[in-house]
Amino acid sequence: MIVQAKGLTKRFGEGLAQIVAVDDVSLTIETGELVIVMGDSGCGKTTLVSLLGCILTPDNGQLTLDGQVIDYAGQDLSQVRRQKIGFVFQLFNLIPYLSALENVIIAMQIGGFSRFEAEKRAKDLLTQVGLARRLDHRPAQLSGGEKQRVSFARALSNNPKIIFADEPTANLDSRQSDNLMNLVRQLRQEQQTTIVIVTHYQALQKDADRVIYMQDGKILTD
Ligand SMILES: Nc1ncnc2c1ncn2[C@@H]1O[C@H](COP(=O)(O)OP(=O)(O)OP(=O)(O)O)[C@@H](O)[C@H]1O
Ligand SMILES: [Mg+2]
Repeated sequence: MIVQAKGLTKRFGEGLAQIVAVDDVSLTIETGELVIVMGDSGCGKTTLVSLLGCILTPDNGQLTLDGQVIDYAGQDLSQVRRQKIGFVFQLFNLIPYLSALENVIIAMQIGGFSRFEAEKRAKDLLTQVGLARRLDHRPAQLSGGEKQRVSFARALSNNPKIIFADEPTANLDSRQSDNLMNLVRQLRQEQQTTIVIVTHYQALQKDADRVIYMQDGKILTD
């Protein structure tokens, strides 16, 4: 079991305007599982994966990742993310003044790889996602789908135990989506990586071990 969440709750805003984006959610995810999260816009998918991926801190509840109970008060969450988690954001969060290649390299150097290793692996990963000829482009010079693939390569770069991807195919055409999803399948086979994906991409559903449907901040079916 790589993820165990108990009673996770996240609220935004105050008073009458308060929204319970994630409402008392408990779930466990086994190592190597491919989990798909679906649900209507605004139902809490991004908030849930952000909580599971240690990007957000819950108002209530407990999270255990890879056997380690997350100590929100005392622990450096960025360290947890670096050691265990790869995250592909709905908005890419690429560094605007760095090239595609440098965006991946810098993440790896922060994760402890040498410059030499980082550069080699970053080139391999960007080639795998079809960007061998875009290495020197900055984010502003890339299409939405290309940015998404850089973001994916970066998420994979530190060999994370678990990858969270928020709509990774949203800006891709069907052929690009297929390529990205083949990469996901390959990762699972070769490295037993656990993957949690927010997606509406139909073709991936047949590969999934589980599909979680959310509604109003809760898990409706699992
Ligand atoms: N930082 C924030 N401040 C205030 N409200 C927020 C914030 N982030 C999310 N919300 C609200 O929380 C709810 C859940 O948002 P979330 O982004 O998790 O939805 P989602 O399921 O990912 O939607 P989409 O499919 O459109 O990406 C929404 O009502 C949203 O408006
Ligand atoms: Mg979202």
